[in-house]
Amino acid sequence: MTTAPQPTPEALKKVLQQEFGFAEFRPGQLELIQAVLSGRDALGVLPTGGGKSLIYQLPAMMMPGVAVVVSPLIALMKDQVDAFNRRGRRRAAALHSNQSAEDARKALAQVHSGEAALLYVAPERFEFAGFRERVLALKPTLFVIDEAHCVNQWGYDFRPSYLALKEIVAALRPAPVLTLTATATPAARREILARLELIKPFVFVGPFDRPNLRFEVHPCTAQEKMQYLRTILNVSRGQGSHLVYVGRRRDADEIAAALSRAGFGAVAYHAGMDAQARRKTQEAWLSGDKPVAVATVAFGMGIDKPDVRTVVHYQHPSSLEAYYQEAGRAGRDGAPSQCITLYSTKDVSLAHFFLRNRYPSRDQVLELYARISPQGTSPDGLRLTSDELSDEQLNVALHALAEQRHVWRDEDGLFRRQDCDPSSVYISLNNLFARKKADYKRLEEVIRYCTDTDCHRTHLLRYFGEPLPEHHRCGNCSACSGGTDSLREIASLEEAGRLFKEHRSILESGGPLSPTFFARFLGASTSKKLPPKWRKLRGFGALAGLPKEQLQAIAKTVMETKAVSPATGGTLKIPRVWPARDSERKERESQEAKYRSIAADELKKRKVSRASGLAILRLASEANGALSPAEIAKRLTGDKNYEEALSDVLAMWAKGYLSTSSEAGKKLNLTSLGRTTLHKS
Ligand SMILES: Nc1ncnc2c1ncn2[C@@H]1O[C@H](COP(=O)(O)OP(=O)(O)OP(=O)(O)O)[C@@H](O)[C@H]1O
Ligand SMILES: [Mg+2]
Ligand SMILES: [Zn+2]
Repeated sequence: MTTAPQPTPEALKKVLQQEFGFAEFRPGQLELIQAVLSGRDALGVLPTGGGKSLIYQLPAMMMPGVAVVVSPLIALMKDQVDAFNRRGRRRAAALHSNQSAEDARKALAQVHSGEAALLYVAPERFEFAGFRERVLALKPTLFVIDEAHCVNQWGYDFRPSYLALKEIVAALRPAPVLTLTATATPAARREILARLELIKPFVFVGPFDRPNLRFEVHPCTAQEKMQYLRTILNVSRGQGSHLVYVGRRRDADEIAAALSRAGFGAVAYHAGMDAQARRKTQEAWLSGDKPVAVATVAFGMGIDKPDVRTVVHYQHPSSLEAYYQEAGRAGRDGAPSQCITLYSTKDVSLAHFFLRNRYPSRDQVLELYARISPQGTSPDGLRLTSDELSDEQLNVALHALAEQRHVWRDEDGLFRRQDCDPSSVYISLNNLFARKKADYKRLEEVIRYCTDTDCHRTHLLRYFGEPLPEHHRCGNCSACSGGTDSLREIASLEEAGRLFKEHRSILESGGPLSPTFFARFLGASTSKKLPPKWRKLRGFGALAGLPKEQLQAIAKTVMETKAVSPATGGTLKIPRVWPARDSERKERESQEAKYRSIAADELKKRKVSRASGLAILRLASEANGALSPAEIAKRLTGDKNYEEALSDVLAMWAKGYLSTSSEAGKKLNLTSLGRTTLHKS
C-alpha cells in the first residue's frame, strides 16, 4: 500500500478538467479513483456509458509506471488507444493477437521506456506462460479487469481465459486490482470478488437507472415484425442513429437489405463478414452516413456513439444482463431514446429448441467418451461417428470431458483418453448440467420481463438488485404509458396507407371506393361483392384478424387523409376503436395456446426409452393419481438429470399414456393406453 499523501477531490477535479475536458465527475468515478490511488482493490458497477474507462485512465496518468488493462474487446482497443493518445502527456499501447510481432514489440518498448501509462491486453494472451512472465516483469502499478462479469462461470458472457486472471492478480501483488462491469446482479458481484480473490475491496454500485431510456416491449407475431420495425424507424426518421439486434447472421443481411429497399440507409453487421467489410460498415454507421445498423450481438459492446436514438431487439435478448448492455448503447448523450423488444412466442419456442439442441444427455456424453480411442481420435473422425449429436452438443460434450480431464488433446491435435474400460470410469457432469440450468433460467427471466404487465424499468432495476417500492411505476415504459396499442395502430395504418397508394387505380376502377369496401380488402373478407381480381393483389388481407369496426376506422382514416405519408405516421390521430382489454387478452391466450401445442408436438416426438417409460407408468399407477409430473421426475432421477426425467414424463403425457386428473389439478393418472401398456410389460 502506498503511504504518499492522497490528492484531494479538488486536485482530482482539476486533472479531470485539464486532461479530459469534463466539468464534473459522474457518480462513482471520484470514489473509485480515490480508492485506486490509495492502493486499494475496487469493484465498480456502473451502467453502460457510465464512464468506467476514466476510472483507470485518470489514475494511470497520475501514477508512475504502467497500468495494465484486461479487456475482451480487441476490436475497440485501437479506438481506445487512439482516444487516449489524443489527450495528453502520456500514451497508451495495446497487445492482442490481431497485431504483428513488430507492433507488439513497439508496444512493449513504449512501456519499458516509461512513455506508455496504459497497456491494453486481451485476456487470451495470458494463457501463454511466456506472455505472463513478460507482463509480470513490467511490474504494473495497477491491474484493471474490464468487463469483469466475464469471470462468472455460469454467467451469460463467461470467458474461460478470465478464470486464469486470478493467478496474475496474486502474482502482481501488492499492485491494486480494479474490476469494472456494467452488468452484475448482487450474486454475480459476489462471484467476481471471490473468484479474483480481491482484498478488502472498495465496492461502488452506481445508480443503474438510465432515465432517458424508454423501455418498450411489443408482443407481436413473426409476420408483424417487419412492419413494426419499419414503423418504429419511420417515426424516428432523421433523428440520430438506430441499432437493430437480430439473432442470426442471415437475418441481419436480409433485414438490412429490406430496410435499404424501403429507403432507410441500413447496413448489416455480423461476425460472418470479413474484418474489412465489418470495419467499413461500422464506419458508415458511426459517421451517420448510414443511420441504421442491423447486427448480431457481435456488434456494439463498448461502442461509444452518443446519438443512438433507438435500439430494437428484433428477437427477445438472450438474457437480461445482455439486454441491459445492448439496450444501453442508446442515449449515451443523455437525450430521450427508446429501447424496444419485439416479442413473439414463436421466438420463445425457437429459443427452447436451440437450448435443447445445445446440451447432450448423459448417455450421449458417455457414448462419446467410449468412442474416443486411447491411441487418439481426430476431431473429424469424432464428428463423422457422432452424427446423432449436433455440432454444439459435440463441443459441449467434449468440453465437459476435457474439463474433468477425462479427455485431452495431444500434440497432433487428436483427442485421447485413458486406456481402460470406459464403463469403469465415473464421469461427473455437474458442471454441464449447472450450465444448462443457468441457460434455462436466463431464458425464463427474459420471458418474465417480456410478459410482465408491471413497469419494465422497475423489473430491470430490481433484477440488478436496486431496491424499489412495491408497484413502482416509472411512467416511461410501455407498461406504464401505453405503447403497444399505439405502435400497432400506427403500423396497421401505415400498411393500409401503402396498399391504398399502390392499388388505388385498381381499387377505384369500378367506381368510387367506400371505406367499407377498402376495409373488406384489408381484412380479406369473403364477401361475394368483392371484385375477384382484388384477391390477387399484393397485400389482400394484410390486416386480416383485426375486428371489423377497427378495419373500418383504419380504412376511413387512410381514405380521408388520402394515403398517409409514412413519415407522419407517428402523429396521426385515429378514432380509438382498438381492441378492448378483453379481446387483447383473448389474443394473448390464443398465442399461448399455440405455444402450448407446439410444445406438446415436440414432446410427442421425444424418444423415451422403454425402461424409463415403464418406470414412469409404474410410479403413476402406484401413486394412484397423487403425483405431479415434477414429483414423478424427482423420484426417477437417481443419477439421471432432473430435466431429462421431467421431459420424459411430459412426453409420456403428450403421447397419451398419462392424463391430468381434473379434481386434483396437475396430478397424473394412467390413461387406458397407459394401463394396457403397463399390464402387457
Ligand atoms: N465525467 C464525465 N463527464 C462527461 N463525460 C464523461 C465523463 N466520464 C466519461 N465520459 C464520457 O462518457 C462516455 C462513456 O464512457 P465509457 O466508454 O468509459 O463508458 P463505459 O462505462 O466504459 O461504458 P461501457 O459499459 O459501454 O463500456 C465517453 O464518451 C466518455 O468520454
Ligand atoms: Mg467500457
Ligand atoms: Zn415503467
